[in-house]
Amino acid sequence: MDTETTEGPSEFWNGFYSERERVWSGKPNAALVREVETVAPARALDLGCGEGADAIWLAARGWTVTAVDVSAVALSRARQHAEDAGVTNRVQWLERDLGEWEPEGEYDLVSAQFLHSPIELPRDRILRRAAAAVAPGGLLLVVGHTAFPPWGRHRHADEAELPTAEELAMSLGLRAGGWEVEATTSEGREVSGPEGQTAVMTDAVLRAWRLAAD
Ligand SMILES: C[S@@+](CC[C@H](N)C(=O)[O-])C[C@H]1O[C@@H](n2cnc3c(N)ncnc32)[C@H](O)[C@@H]1O
Repeated sequence: MDTETTEGPSEFWNGFYSERERVWSGKPNAALVREVETVAPARALDLGCGEGADAIWLAARGWTVTAVDVSAVALSRARQHAEDAGVTNRVQWLERDLGEWEPEGEYDLVSAQFLHSPIELPRDRILRRAAAAVAPGGLLLVVGHTAFPPWGRHRHADEAELPTAEELAMSLGLRAGGWEVEATTSEGREVSGPEGQTAVMTDAVLRAWRLAAD
């Protein structure tokens, strides 16, 4: 990723996706599969859905999904993949800048998988709004890097911008009550970079269930 840019998020991410025909593997994120496999399908919101693998996996399991990304290039691939998977009618794809957008309504699952950006991204604000959109009994699942992959040239290379799951729970106010929170760091897993490089990385995994009102 070239991070020396003054572009806005849509220009940056469209440029990023346009560099290759396909960026991500097409497989759903492992943490999402692990957490949601046994949950009854309902309404899901996927923040920064990219090429759509998570949203399509959820839709194929019966979820009704709202999937949001700022990149029209990524979303047009996601739409095509959804059509190929026969789940078009279960996913609403929204091209929005999450820095500006506010979710409408409630969701039983709000998922943010690797919602990171080398350019300005008000992640805390976005995740606060996302948390507010979780229905009683619903799950907020935020998975992020604990360190940037060695092949990602981030302008803000300062890793302090990558909170642990516990720091994120605190900064989102989830420890103040009303939530059952699990904040963990995953086991190391091998990941592949765009040029086929590999590295072992861990993830910050925040699971927060909004407690149902008595
Ligand atoms: C690192 S990718 C992760 C994609 C996907 N969640 C996954 O795990 O494969 C980050 C995604 O966030 C999107 N994104 C970054 N900034 C955004 C913003 N301001 N508004 C909406 N989407 C954004 C990018 O277009 C990209 O698809």
